[in-house]
Amino acid sequence: MSVGHLEELIDDNHSIVSSSVDKDQLQPGCSIFMHNKVLSAVGILQDEVDPMVSVMKVEKAPLESYADIGGLDAQIQEIKEAVELPLTHPELYEDIGIKPPKGVILYGEPGTGKTLLAKAVANSTSATFLLVVGSELIQKYLGDGPKLVRELFRVADDLSPSIVFIDEIDAVGTKRYDAHSGGEREIQRTMRELLNQLDGFDSRADVKVILATNKIESLDPALLRPGRIDRKIEFPLPDIKTRRRIFTIHTSRMTLSDDVNLEEFVMTKDEFSGADIKAICTEAGLLALREHRMKVTHADFKKAKDKVMFKKKEGVPEGLYM
Ligand SMILES: Nc1ncnc2c1ncn2[C@@H]1O[C@H](COP(=O)(O)OP(=O)(O)OP(=O)(O)O)[C@@H](O)[C@H]1O
Ligand SMILES: [Mg+2]
Repeated sequence: MSVGHLEELIDDNHSIVSSSVDKDQLQPGCSIFMHNKVLSAVGILQDEVDPMVSVMKVEKAPLESYADIGGLDAQIQEIKEAVELPLTHPELYEDIGIKPPKGVILYGEPGTGKTLLAKAVANSTSATFLLVVGSELIQKYLGDGPKLVRELFRVADDLSPSIVFIDEIDAVGTKRYDAHSGGEREIQRTMRELLNQLDGFDSRADVKVILATNKIESLDPALLRPGRIDRKIEFPLPDIKTRRRIFTIHTSRMTLSDDVNLEEFVMTKDEFSGADIKAICTEAGLLALREHRMKVTHADFKKAKDKVMFKKKEGVPEGLYM
């Protein structure tokens, strides 16, 4: 990392730092990229990028880790080989004489752990993690999409090794878009720029792309063509063993009453995702809390499961479970 110079302390959380980035360009008021631990300035944001910063999050190392993931062993293995290993040990691919993939696309039903796994990968490498949510890109920055995509890859290159994570890529990458939205052409332009950028960077470069979607069938096939994002990783709903594991993970910090028998929910015929399991655990905890009980009972879990399954059927979005 570049060495920074502490110019002024403002308060407990803020200070003015300078560093070895081009000093001529550093002026009061300009936005800078800072190293997430030592807070030295490691790059300068061009003026035009400014309004887009909120959509392009240079995430601090995410807190999620592989240990938080129940099951998905094959998926973890694949993403390690395609994203993590090329960043940490590029020489292995050179020795064998193959080019590592440019990236991967994670697909599967909602709540199956795609975003979770992408964050866990970022957590396990020291690479810069750039996160963009496709739907935000389209809704907030209609018209600026292509520019943002260009900027995203420029920054990824500047701060490499890095991982570019575009969540909900279907918002950008659909074959056809609702013409009534009026943004169809913009979305296509954004998509074309994304393809450009993917073609433009060499797969040996230390920038890896992770895309995630739950509508892979609606994606523009051009995006998934060989040489672009041609590694597809499917996320199925959890099987019984995995459900058990996910319940264990999400109840590990809860105080459970002796009568709780999670097996009843593990073995049920209802279909549910990892996110549903998490919602059931959270909901059960809230029920106990509401009655000022210190322990979560089996009845809490039962009620919680019914509520979560009901909301799922009614199509209440995941974030509104509580
Ligand atoms: N395999 C799993 N192990 C543990 N927790 C899981 C698992 N899958 C999902 N969860 C829980 O559900 C939450 C939501 O999952 P996540 O956001 O990764 O789903 P997603 O596949 O990205 O869904 P969407 O397609 O709706 O974006 C996670 O934060 C986690 O708490
Ligand atoms: Mg997701």
